[in-house]
Amino acid sequence: MIHRRTALACVGLLVGRVPVAAQHVVQVLVWRDPYCGCCSSWVAHLRSEGFAVDDQVVRAVGPIRQSLGTPIDLLSCHAGQVEGFVLEGHVPAPAIRRLLTERPAGVRGLAVPEMPIGSPGMEVPDRAPETYEVIAFGAGPHRPFMRFTGGLPS
Ligand code: CU
Ligand code: CU
Repeated sequence: MIHRRTALACVGLLVGRVPVAAQHVVQVLVWRDPYCGCCSSWVAHLRSEGFAVDDQVVRAVGPIRQSLGTPIDLLSCHAGQVEGFVLEGHVPAPAIRRLLTERPAGVRGLAVPEMPIGSPGMEVPDRAPETYEVIAFGAGPHRPFMRFTGGLPS
């Protein structure tokens, strides 16, 4: 009887704790090639911002982009997916959080084309960070979603 009650108390603790963690940790899937240093730095950025990253090293990211439907005029160095949205390039964590909060109608994903200096994972010592747009794509024309200078909204 004592054992049974102890076991039930433990189950209660688990049930009380697991959903809290499940609500707060967002999983990001990343596809990158093995030789991309800035891709690993972007993965580190996401992890330090509290995302759980499934970091998939692949021979070629191109076919994955094709299946994700990433527009070919927005290409950067790595592809990603978060809660059904597509990511391309060095998208800063605050833009991903805003995307998941707002879930704007018609938006399939976010991209930072090319690799702006100073974007998360693209920090270069002694180089001033660039100002760049995070682009939303999906139904209709691409549109600016958020502007950053380096890692900070501007
Ligand atoms: Cu890169
Ligand atoms: Cu990359």
